[in-house]
Amino acid sequence: MIGVRNGARKRARLVALGAEVPERIVTNEDMAKMVDTSDEWIYSRTGIKERRFVAEDEAASDLAVRAGIKILAEAEMDPLEVDVLIVPTASPDHIFPATATLVANRIGAHRAAAFDILAGCTGFIYGLAQGTALIESGLAGNVLVLGAEALSKITDQTDRSTCILFGDAAAGAMLVAAPEDEVTGFLGFELGADGSGGQDLVVPAGGSRMPAKDGPYEAALSCIQMNGREVFKFATRVMVESCTKLLEALEMHVDEIDLLVAHQANQRIIDHAISRLGIPPEKVFNNLERYGNTSSASIPLAMLEAREAGMLSPGDMTLLVGFGAGLTWGSTVMRYEPT
Ligand code: UT7
Repeated sequence: MIGVRNGARKRARLVALGAEVPERIVTNEDMAKMVDTSDEWIYSRTGIKERRFVAEDEAASDLAVRAGIKILAEAEMDPLEVDVLIVPTASPDHIFPATATLVANRIGAHRAAAFDILAGCTGFIYGLAQGTALIESGLAGNVLVLGAEALSKITDQTDRSTCILFGDAAAGAMLVAAPEDEVTGFLGFELGADGSGGQDLVVPAGGSRMPAKDGPYEAALSCIQMNGREVFKFATRVMVESCTKLLEALEMHVDEIDLLVAHQANQRIIDHAISRLGIPPEKVFNNLERYGNTSSASIPLAMLEAREAGMLSPGDMTLLVGFGAGLTWGSTVMRYEPT
């Protein structure tokens, strides 16, 4: 892309959504054959019934390519019109090159700048903020934000405290530039990070702290390790704080929100947050029962299915909120105006 500031103020608007999930369904009963757990334990503690796993020879970019093609089709856009492709991911194909560059090449977005965002499950919200900033500064016109995860590949399938939680998916959104006078698109963001909790959700090996070349390490060190109780406490606190601060900054009342889509990690975390925020369950869409926690893909995957369920319609004021490794968090309010 070439971006030159020309003084024309724009608004970033979300015009298309798309997702791809792997074919293979892994139910709680399947999990109970792999580790000492039960459908009753998993469902009552998390709200998850099943999740999807990629095939042995698939990686995050393979799902992202298929999701990206769907988003381009919905946006009625040629891939060469994409100025920037942002891939939030916690399970990239490689440390580098960025998964985004591989996806850009395969979908034909040959004009696009392409990079990944590593902000755990908050990655999609961070990516929306980045895309919005690029568009509103005038540097980019069309930005594809595409969360892509093959978390099953970095999960220890013998660790019952983590393996039951995570699933694979890619999902995202196309952001375009709208005239500034339109009351549309992203009204604001609240983003944060607290690295003091970094070790509560970590893949220890494979980076420069514990290089892969110094291995082999036991498999668990190359997989997600989580202090579930600490992350739970953190999540319930920051989801409420982030949304409250953002609504205050926007001078909005929570009643003005038509739909809340939260990061799909745990039904109990979401229930706690909405009850504290005073958002009725009928304004909240969840699908973690069928997909588990798909990290950067979870919010756009839920938005897409909310729309299919008739809960996301043009004009709807939508609150999105996420949290994850870092530890990070973020929320945004957007008016959904796809055309
Ligand atoms: O995107 C961000 C990602 N992370 C999260 O959102 C995770 C947030 N945390 C959580 O969702 C919850 O902490 C978990 C679902 C991970 C765990 O639920 P919990 O109610 O916090 O359980 P716990 O870790 O306190 O464990 C309670 C018991 C333990 O046994 P003891 O020590 O009481 O005998 C665990 O060993 O449950 C046991 N346990 C299990 N039992 C059956 C842990 N995992 C399982 C399992 N099946 N899969």
